[in-house]
Amino acid sequence: MRRGQKTISDLGLGNVRLRQMNVLEVDEGFGEFDYIIAHGLYSWTPVAVRDKILAIARAHTHRQGVAFVSYNTMPGGHVRTMVREMMLHHIGGAEDPAIHLEKARELLRLIAMGRPEPDTLEAAVATYAVELLERTDSALYHDDLCDIYEPVYFHEFAAHAAGHDLQYLGEANPQEA
Ligand SMILES: C[S@@+](CC[C@H](N)C(=O)[O-])C[C@H]1O[C@@H](n2cnc3c(N)ncnc32)[C@H](O)[C@@H]1O
Repeated sequence: MRRGQKTISDLGLGNVRLRQMNVLEVDEGFGEFDYIIAHGLYSWTPVAVRDKILAIARAHTHRQGVAFVSYNTMPGGHVRTMVREMMLHHIGGAEDPAIHLEKARELLRLIAMGRPEPDTLEAAVATYAVELLERTDSALYHDDLCDIYEPVYFHEFAAHAAGHDLQYLGEANPQEA
């Protein structure tokens, strides 16, 4: 928040307002927008929040407005989920976040070493472990060791959006469509 305020003042922007709030508290008075961006939320939140994100997209965009909602996808999400579940099992009942990170990285180092002749799945898991070892404490803790991580299939997301009377427009990166 402080960093955002500083950027706004450094750039001398007069039409930007930052608010930190719970998605569930957005009400009718929130306003109407051309674009609504919900990045890094959908796959990390409970059903009620996911539903509210799309309800907000429907209720608070102009008629021609666009909502950008990022989410993690299946089937690729299986690999991430596998590594996440292994880390959480290795962490066990530890409560201290510092211990979570230490134990998670201990396991990641082991997985990253790989096996002499890995099959395709083992190689994918080891590659992802190497990637995770490069993450900051904050990214590893909040993105992969958090309580909820639920990647969804495109058809599930599209059906959820349609249920809110939203039309799928396209991928943010057209090459991924
Ligand atoms: C995996 S993090 C992603 C953070 C960031 N968007 C990014 O991509 O780096 C998930 C974020 O969702 C936020 N979050 C979870 N439930 C929320 C809610 N009900 N309202 C607003 N934010 C929420 C958490 O505070 C957390 O910062």
